[in-house]
Amino acid sequence: MSYDLVIKNGTVVTAVSSTEADIGINGEQIAAIGQNLSGKRELDATGKLVTPGAIDVHVHLEMPIGDFTSADDFYTGTRAAAFGGTTTIIDFIETAPEETMLAALAARRAKADPKVLIDYGLHMTIGPRDINKLEQIPAVYAAGCASFKLYMAYGLRLHDGQLWQALTAVREVGGMPVVHAENWDVICALIAENLAAGRVEPHWHPRSRPALLEGEAAGRVIDIADFVGTRLYVFHVSCQETVAQIAAARRRGLPIYGETCPQYLLLDWQLYDRPGVAGALPVCSPPIREKAQQKALWRALAQENLQVVSTDHCPFTLAEKESGLGDYSTIPGGVPSIEIRFPAVYQRGVQSGLLTRNQWVAACCTRPAQLFGLQKKGDIAVGYDADLVIFDEKRPFTISPDSLHEAAGWTLYDGMAFQGWPQTTLSRGEIIVDDGELLAQPGRGRFVRRTF
Ligand code: URP
Ligand code: ZN
Ligand code: ZN
Repeated sequence: MSYDLVIKNGTVVTAVSSTEADIGINGEQIAAIGQNLSGKRELDATGKLVTPGAIDVHVHLEMPIGDFTSADDFYTGTRAAAFGGTTTIIDFIETAPEETMLAALAARRAKADPKVLIDYGLHMTIGPRDINKLEQIPAVYAAGCASFKLYMAYGLRLHDGQLWQALTAVREVGGMPVVHAENWDVICALIAENLAAGRVEPHWHPRSRPALLEGEAAGRVIDIADFVGTRLYVFHVSCQETVAQIAAARRRGLPIYGETCPQYLLLDWQLYDRPGVAGALPVCSPPIREKAQQKALWRALAQENLQVVSTDHCPFTLAEKESGLGDYSTIPGGVPSIEIRFPAVYQRGVQSGLLTRNQWVAACCTRPAQLFGLQKKGDIAVGYDADLVIFDEKRPFTISPDSLHEAAGWTLYDGMAFQGWPQTTLSRGEIIVDDGELLAQPGRGRFVRRTF
């Protein structure tokens, strides 16, 4: 039998195994995994790893925040993702005040569909104005939005009673609630105190958002989820204090999950002390913490108290970041890493012996699919989408704004030298990036209806 495409002689790495095998692809799906397969077209992966396409369940592309819109749109963001080995993303929907959730879903899809290079899903945000729309959740779930974003911070912040209402509604459909956990009241008080005292520099950003109270907020929403009887996924865990809450809940047998991001795993809060705009660039929330927190987060990944590494990719331009220099609380929050995430976890995790290759694949590919209802993605198995990466462990790559394809024009990882980078990225059997060359057209990506 001859397949449409065969990836030959690679080391096939999944969340549970590493084997020397060929992968046969027919059309968009994996048709066979075995020895001596032949195809109409063949890619030689001798000496390389073959992994599932990576999945980033937390990105904000062309997302309006206050007066700004995040710098990567659905084209540049998914292009950068593809170069970094990511083949599926999950972005967000926010409703306008009088808009139904289904109308907001249609509007977001209309923005994304013509531009996306890779497949994508959408989380539905439930803000305070959406509490009177909770009866729309079953229709949204049926339309393929299987996860629901709840904020404990910013203007979209839900109070505890509203969290209870929203979690109850999501539980009713069997969806996955995801939460931004911080203590907003204390953050507002600390910012006000700092500004009144003339402490306006980015140095004060992490000091206004204490790790202890990120943990407190996470523990509180975990307890509400426990009371409601729902699972819960905690976004962008930045510190040991939040890990401890998730780990304790899991020890109690609760279905509580968490992710962290490259900015928390690779960087530390000294970046906020860089002069001028350089100190503003790393502003994101939760903030980047002390260096000692990195070790705790890697350990949590290795021990599976955190399950996923996503990015929270939400870049703003240098000028936009600079605009908040006189008052750190007005710097638009968010940082880019959509392109570097998969190789960065390999570099700092696998190369340093903190994670096995299988744990790397689990955290970046397989668990994201399992936890977010991506039924045919995140693994290498017959019948799965042929979303695959040929990963060259020996390929050197020095990070710089010029070597990346992100739109922000800056990166917090500038100058870092990686050993190991994706050589080829395939999405549903199509080679979309090969040896640094983009081969795909905008609009080829698809909205993925997710379900549990
Ligand atoms: O600062 C951040 N993280 N911006 C993106 C929005 C969010 O909180 O996830
Ligand atoms: Zn957030
Ligand atoms: Zn986010």
